[in-house]
Amino acid sequence: MYFPIYRPRRLRADVNIRRMVRETSLSVDDFIAPLFVCPGEGVRHEISSMPGNYQLSIDELVLEAQELKSLGVPAIILFGIPETKDELGTGAYDDHGIIQEAIRALKAEVKDLLVITDVCLCEYTSHGHCGVVENGLINNDKTLELLAKEAVSHAAAGADMVAPSDMMDGRVGFIRNALDAAGFDQITLMAYAVKYASAFYGPFREAAESPPQFGDRKSYQMDPANAREALREAALDIEEGADIIMVKPALPYLDIIHSLRAEFDYPLAAYNVSGEFAMIKAAAAKGWIDGEQAMLESLLSIKRAGADMILTYFAKEAARIL
Ligand code: PBG
Repeated sequence: MYFPIYRPRRLRADVNIRRMVRETSLSVDDFIAPLFVCPGEGVRHEISSMPGNYQLSIDELVLEAQELKSLGVPAIILFGIPETKDELGTGAYDDHGIIQEAIRALKAEVKDLLVITDVCLCEYTSHGHCGVVENGLINNDKTLELLAKEAVSHAAAGADMVAPSDMMDGRVGFIRNALDAAGFDQITLMAYAVKYASAFYGPFREAAESPPQFGDRKSYQMDPANAREALREAALDIEEGADIIMVKPALPYLDIIHSLRAEFDYPLAAYNVSGEFAMIKAAAAKGWIDGEQAMLESLLSIKRAGADMILTYFAKEAARIL
């Protein structure tokens, strides 16, 4: 009878040997928690497709941020729901806009928590697109001016890091220049370098009240079929001065995370998006999967693929377990 000399099961025999040979680990250090800020006071409105996530007024946002900090989460990323929207998304770069006021409150009341802002126009425009619309098309270069104003006003309010998510050409360099010219050369820039036009953003658009009112985002977000293009996008953002590059979504794009990890020696983030979160929550609610195990396995997979940090709606829940 033949017995194999190498028996892989020896290294799986008990919990201690498994701990010793484990190649990847999850830590609370890995997480960035996305939070949605809305007008009002005492507002904590649960997003129906994202259980445990809320639209928060600034007072409630501060409480949520304090809780995340006490759990050891190092950073949050803010999304704003403004009082009113218009063609040019003026709420995005209003020095007293929802995000600017939120940053000031956080900086006054929560110490040692890194505050990142999403820099985009879609939450602020009446048409829901991420840029300036002219004759039904998105004007790239006019959009850059507005994004730069938005980033500078976030920095002036006290943000630690800005994260442009619009996918306009040249925006990383344009924003970097504008920040530096305004004296904010110490503000970190995390680029949504590789952002696909994905169906997995559905619940987010409910949360941020930002679905496009006509058409789709395919003229600026990437085609899910393309992997080589991801390398070009990331290379451009690095050339233009990005400190951290991001892949979004995460789970359907683990191959992209893996190839960026191999190609670039820069900190790499992955966005475990709203739809990825909602699928696990929905299946768990039906009793079809173990939600906690599926959460941890997903987050671990994103790390294993090569991400250094994960933007995830699971941040609080996972931090409690870890
Ligand atoms: C803004 C933005 C979106 C997300 C993050 N920033 C929505 C979009 O591009 O439609 C999606 C995040 C998520 O689904 O969790 N442009």
